[in-house]
Amino acid sequence: MTLQEIVAARRSCRRFTDQQPSREVIEQILAEALTAPSSKNTRSTRYIVVTDPAKLKIMSQMRDYGSALLSGTPVGIIVCGDTQASDLWEVNCAISTTILQLAAEEHGLGSCWVHIKDRPHLKDDPSAGTAEQWLTENLPIIPEGWSPLCVVAVGYPEVPAKPHAPKDDSDKVLWIDQM
Ligand SMILES: Cc1cc2nc3c(=O)[nH]c(=O)nc-3n(C[C@H](O)[C@H](O)[C@H](O)COP(=O)(O)O)c2cc1C
Repeated sequence: MTLQEIVAARRSCRRFTDQQPSREVIEQILAEALTAPSSKNTRSTRYIVVTDPAKLKIMSQMRDYGSALLSGTPVGIIVCGDTQASDLWEVNCAISTTILQLAAEEHGLGSCWVHIKDRPHLKDDPSAGTAEQWLTENLPIIPEGWSPLCVVAVGYPEVPAKPHAPKDDSDKVLWIDQM
């Protein structure tokens, strides 16, 4: 697949088959994500690969909206930043996650970004704390000094993704040409 084909094909995938991606293919995707550009080449992004269905089920409960898909997902990759390694660890994580999703697509896998950072555990009750706090209390697997940005759900898509609908994005790009 060309990059153009990969970019065109990538859609968020929230339903997966029971087929478990091999460790080899996940390692290949992570190797590609680890080449991501990073501020001052700090390479501050860290990954926690979760394949245990019981732990994925706990992760699915970190928010009361938008994270349920993690239950039944074959692989959940928690994308974290080493907060000491870079002041721009969040930005570095976001770039790494994008590359990870494109690499997954190249290998025939679907993926979906499930956000953690600054998201509430309960949408309508800020007093219930954040998704990150809930996860730290209920699933203490994130090493000290690593802060999570998101989880990427990864697996083989249950149904082929619909292509992006054509849109008029002319208001999103500004050209400054010489007059
Ligand atoms: C920063 C960010 C946070 C997201 N958080 C979630 C999420 O928590 N749950 C979810 O199901 N999808 C999440 N998504 C996926 C978006 O909903 C999805 O990318 C968007 O609707 C566009 O659809 P597409 O990915 O199929 O092009 C997130 C995407 C991004 C980039």
